Amino acid sequence: MSSLAETNLFKPIKVGPVTLTNRVVLAPTTRLRNTETLVATDSMLEFYIERARNNGGLLISEGAFTSPDVGSFPFAPMLYTAELVFSWKKITDAVHPNGSSIAIQIAGLGRAGDPKDFKDGGFPFAAPSAIYLTEDSKEVAEKVGNLLREFTIDDLHRVKDDFISAAKRSVDRAGFDIVELHAANMFLLNQFLEEASNQRTDQYGGSIENRSRFVLEVVDGVIEAVGADRTAVRISRYCRSQGGESVDAKVSPIVNYGYFVNELERRAKNGKRLAYLLFVEPRVSGDNIIEESYVPDSSWLNEIWKGIIIRSGNLLHGDGYPLLRKYVGSGDRTLIGSSRYYTSNPDLVNRLKNGYFLTQYDGPTFYRVMTNEGYLTSPNCGETVYKQEILSSVPKPLAQD
Ligand SMILES: Cc1cc2nc3c(=O)[nH]c(=O)nc-3n(C[C@H](O)[C@H](O)[C@H](O)COP(=O)(O)O)c2cc1C
Repeated sequence: MSSLAETNLFKPIKVGPVTLTNRVVLAPTTRLRNTETLVATDSMLEFYIERARNNGGLLISEGAFTSPDVGSFPFAPMLYTAELVFSWKKITDAVHPNGSSIAIQIAGLGRAGDPKDFKDGGFPFAAPSAIYLTEDSKEVAEKVGNLLREFTIDDLHRVKDDFISAAKRSVDRAGFDIVELHAANMFLLNQFLEEASNQRTDQYGGSIENRSRFVLEVVDGVIEAVGADRTAVRISRYCRSQGGESVDAKVSPIVNYGYFVNELERRAKNGKRLAYLLFVEPRVSGDNIIEESYVPDSSWLNEIWKGIIIRSGNLLHGDGYPLLRKYVGSGDRTLIGSSRYYTSNPDLVNRLKNGYFLTQYDGPTFYRVMTNEGYLTSPNCGETVYKQEILSSVPKPLAQD
């Protein structure tokens, strides 16, 4: 593998409030190693420290849910109570002295959640519109008596406030440098942007402007709470997971997301430039690779958005990393997000710098709850063993001081 030391990947760059020594980013990667009560764990602390050490770049956390009424995955992070937020403080406190920076991704599930989980928690199953993601979801909703319904305006105020509070707590109490709003992969905020999941007839649906309105209100609220330079947004113009229609949507992604991104650029021109926009590349949908004969050219976004860009999606594949080189080489504002190879290469930055081989990731261990297997068992380059006791221990809650 060729060394990338001489490319822009190893040129320092300022992103929001932090200056990074390289442009390699840990892309958000859900790993479900929280406790059953969603508290961050000592295993997560170790996972992030391993990647912060000798790094100097940016780590983005796995998606963290803002409140129970937007849904969550079992064993995933949630930011709803002081205990949950403080459990992350230990992690940010450990990342910073290692010379690295850390953003948190905040998210909701909406119609992508499990109707039974909502019911068990005493919450309605609600989304921008009452359009089920799958027949299965509809069947479960009917069975448990928790039918999908459209968010009321009151619901929307609550959901927005929860995003804003989660963002504020993440910066003020948990010590994150940046908050990334997850408006991609057909998670909750993305469901507002797409016609397939948003057919509201009020001011939050119907036209591109209306479909963008709620997400932009959340962006504005988060800017107000933590500052524009600590706010970031992730979008996926070509998503095909969770009901995303990519180029087959009735409204072209270029038009749909062109408007949305232009609104973010408009804010930037008015003195509120976000820390970055993260673009999921067309070859990836959620955590799956898609093989399509036609790969859209996604460079048009650079024409609209003039700030920092992180591109993520299959960029560490291919001999000599041609796509990565193309992106970091064009302009002087693009960073590269890596998810899967960062799980199996804690020292990814060092490997890319020196041209060392990358260890293949192990998909079946991505989401193994209550174990460190596949989570803390990836050695650095040149180290062939890990401590055996890691396998016999389970993630434990990070206690509050
Ligand atoms: C196990 C796994 C978990 C993921 N979790 C998230 C997540 O929490 N939030 C998100 O926006 N994307 C998530 N993704 C998508 C990644 O951020 C990334 O866009 C995708 O994996 C492609 O990048 P890669 O080729 O570097 O793996 C996940 C991907 C994987 C493989």
